[in-house]
Amino acid sequence: MDLSIEKIRQDALGELETAPDAPAVQELSTRYLGRKGFVTRFLRNISRLPQADRAEAGKSGNQVKRQLEEAFERKLADLEAAGPSADAIDVSLPGRQPPVGSVHPITSISEQICGIFARMGFEVVEGPEVESDYYNFEALNIPKDHPARDMQDTFYIDDNVVLRTHTSPVQIRVMEQRKPPVRVVAPGKVYRCDSDLTHTPMFHQVEGLLVDRNISFGDLKGVLTSFVHEMFDEQTTLRFRPSFFPFTEPSAEVDILCVMCRGKGCRVCSHTGWLEILGSGMVHPALYENVGYDAGVYTGFAFGMGVERIAMLKYGIDDIRKFFENDDRFLRQFQA
Ligand code: FA5
Ligand code: MG
Repeated sequence: MDLSIEKIRQDALGELETAPDAPAVQELSTRYLGRKGFVTRFLRNISRLPQADRAEAGKSGNQVKRQLEEAFERKLADLEAAGPSADAIDVSLPGRQPPVGSVHPITSISEQICGIFARMGFEVVEGPEVESDYYNFEALNIPKDHPARDMQDTFYIDDNVVLRTHTSPVQIRVMEQRKPPVRVVAPGKVYRCDSDLTHTPMFHQVEGLLVDRNISFGDLKGVLTSFVHEMFDEQTTLRFRPSFFPFTEPSAEVDILCVMCRGKGCRVCSHTGWLEILGSGMVHPALYENVGYDAGVYTGFAFGMGVERIAMLKYGIDDIRKFFENDDRFLRQFQA
């Protein structure tokens, strides 16, 4: 065998013997078998040898090449099997923290709201976000061309299909399917063509409906007052303000003293000192007619609250849009 290739072989195997880790083996592999490696150069130079020696040199050169390839492979496999050496790991370093996700603050508040009502005996139900005109308006005593349709700027899919503007259609769907007593809350997304500091085109509501014999406005006030006291605290100031909804009579909106300015007036509460959190009232008898309940026997109340409004009050957030910008620094503050 050509002496120079035998020397290359011995050097390579000697160095491989003491190679401590995979990068060292890679380095050897490049130095011996790479494009400018010793073995490669040996094979390339064969054409300059006397004709008589070429065949033998080629044969031994290729043999060494194969032997080294195998030896490097084997060494890498052995190193891998042995695992990292003890001093390759600094056990005093802090571990790497993978980023951890969490529940969105709006989801969390919505769950808290439903939890409070669930403990008062309400069942949690859901309805579709793409809703028929009938459930979103007609069955709720809002006929076509009724001025009350202008109270909510509606996204129409076509003449008879809308993105629901509130969760109230779930009231009708539930009453169609069940006989009283009915006691449900319905959380979900609603859509309105509306956008500013306190309004976004998509927001969340939780609807409530209770129908039974002998239900009075006093029951409505009691249930909503204990809800507010549990959601915030016993000291929270709230007021029932007379209002109008076509599907309730009488109707009232509930306001909470603005937590940003404590009632002094600021841009969040439009300088009124109060923030509206929900609409409510006694279920209008026209609805009972639409679902086949006897209005002479049953009475009930309903309410619909804005989840974002409650989250803003609870966390002292002055711009509703922050909930939907998905700024990691904002969302991380709500991590449990
Ligand atoms: C309604 O949507 C009625 N369906 C509520 C209701 C249900 C009344 C049952 C009677 C019986 P209103 O449009 O006021 O009402 O909305 C209810 C609550 O949703 C508001 O008090 C407010 O907290 C919230 N809200 C309304 N519009 C927006 C908006 N664009 N962005 C964020 N929150 C909103
Ligand atoms: Mg309102």
